[in-house]
Amino acid sequence: MIRARIIGTGSYIPERVLTNFDLEKFLDTNDEWIVTRTGIRERRIAADGEFTSDLATKAARQALAMAGIGPESIDLIIVGTITGDFPWPATACLVQQQLGIKGGIAFDVSAACSGFVYALATATSFIEAGSVKRVLVIGAEVLSRVVDWEDRNSCILFGDGAGAVVLEAQSGENGVISTHLHADGSYWELLYQKGFGSRHPASSKGLDERMPFLKMQGNEVFKVAVRSLSDVALEALEANNLTPRDINLFIPHQANRRILEATAKRIGLDDEQVLINVDRFGNTSGASIPIALDEANRAGRIKAGDVVVLDAFGGGFTWGAALLRW
Ligand code: UT7
Repeated sequence: MIRARIIGTGSYIPERVLTNFDLEKFLDTNDEWIVTRTGIRERRIAADGEFTSDLATKAARQALAMAGIGPESIDLIIVGTITGDFPWPATACLVQQQLGIKGGIAFDVSAACSGFVYALATATSFIEAGSVKRVLVIGAEVLSRVVDWEDRNSCILFGDGAGAVVLEAQSGENGVISTHLHADGSYWELLYQKGFGSRHPASSKGLDERMPFLKMQGNEVFKVAVRSLSDVALEALEANNLTPRDINLFIPHQANRRILEATAKRIGLDDEQVLINVDRFGNTSGASIPIALDEANRAGRIKAGDVVVLDAFGGGFTWGAALLRW
């Protein structure tokens, strides 16, 4: 059987650090509230002149270097993002240009914080269908440019970054074993960016109403997130006749420490099985899982044959899991 196997991981985190104490200077908030409610201590912010495609390309270069291959052998690039350089063309096309790749396929996937898992599942289908051999799957976001820095309910959560993997078609038992994607559009209004799409095109009135910024009803998101993240992880285990004990590393979307802990408890995981780095990077939406995966990989936390579960939830609502045998 042909499987999609990860042969390289990479990530790029912007240099500028924004701590909770920095937020205290312009927002009615404080470090203690943020740490208690979210577990976040700091997040990274892209530099002026640094765009989503730049972050994505840097992460991709690292993943290619680890894989030991050149960009020219990539057949497909998929970027999971909701903060692309432009509404269109796809950020994947800009990455293709920056990497100097001629030919192949490039497109973005819009699934908010589930963007990387959606992109990975899509890439896996291309590989298993035999239509491509090597794929770059990237999650990249510059959320700092769409969050409302006057809204303390949401802006404290988010940060910028990118993570990437190179997938290769290989025969054998290692690679992406199964993916499980879901969506429920009845929740779209709980987490979205109001302007400026076709429903609310660009206007100065829209700017006054702060339309271009992220809107979120955090409490409602929280409840559905915990239920969906745990249900889909259990679905992935059951589909493979595995139990929570069989997971060597569980990498959830880094939304909020309380969400992650409640999810892990509902699944029945111990602390050491769960990767949490939300304290240092905040919620980087589609980038959070590949950043965490790259950190774990480079730290030697994953060995060949390990069962790794990636678990995502985001606007839409969308959610999904990918079960990998490393
Ligand atoms: O990838 C998915 C993206 N979204 C999420 O992951 C969001 C999920 N939700 C959450 O993480 C949490 O709901 C939040 C962290 C956003 C909020 O935590 P909460 O425990 O649900 O707090 P809350 O919204 O119920 O607010 C409690 C209080 C309120 O004050 P009152 O009405 O009790 O007086 C808020 O006004 O905390 C206040 N508050 C703040 N205080 C200081 C809200 N934000 C802040 C803040 N600093 N930044």
